[in-house]
Amino acid sequence: MKTDLFGTRRDDPIGPGAMILRGFALDPAILADVAHIAGISPFRHMQTPGGRQIGVEMTNCGALGWVSDRHGYRYEPDDPLTGRPWPEMPAGFLRLAQEAAAHAGFPGFRPDACLVNRYVPGVKMGLHQDRDEADLDAPIVSVSLGLPATFQFGGPQRGDPVKKHALEHGDVVVWGGPARLAWHGILTLKRGEHPLTGATRINLTFRRAR
Ligand code: SIN
Ligand code: FE2
Repeated sequence: MKTDLFGTRRDDPIGPGAMILRGFALDPAILADVAHIAGISPFRHMQTPGGRQIGVEMTNCGALGWVSDRHGYRYEPDDPLTGRPWPEMPAGFLRLAQEAAAHAGFPGFRPDACLVNRYVPGVKMGLHQDRDEADLDAPIVSVSLGLPATFQFGGPQRGDPVKKHALEHGDVVVWGGPARLAWHGILTLKRGEHPLTGATRINLTFRRAR
């Protein structure tokens, strides 16, 4: 267990290759960067390949952005909404993702994609695997900001037991290696008001897509 000057950081292993880094992402500059990104590539509801609207609003930054539409899930260098490249990944995002990965045992992480998810109360993300990436050797780094949420985390098989973990503002989940294809999701967000984000939760998911 490690603690910073303020005593707010704590390592919380949740299985082989998976760890919650409590209080690892408390720099207020992160939310300013999210606002900057959303000013260039706005949050939007994407469509599933089946034509349903995804409840979580999304945008991206970095060389590649995750998109979903009638043609499927994939990574694209340009935002289909603006026709322009996704906003650059802020230096602070890259540093945070690399430091979190290294801290959890995955040195040398070079994310080229950052999906930014925005949840409002009543919205959830069902259990899924992150498997649209070419490089499954790289871990996933997932940053929670704003309203608290319940994270579900299972194993690489659909039927593996799933545990619930409370995620709060500033927590970072890292999973890779034996946990890289773990099923995971977010339970329906409860109503609330966060001093920094209001009635929303923001998640940053850093990945090596190519
Ligand atoms: C995701 O799995 O893409 C998002 C997880 C989260 O919102 O914490
Ligand atoms: Fe995911």
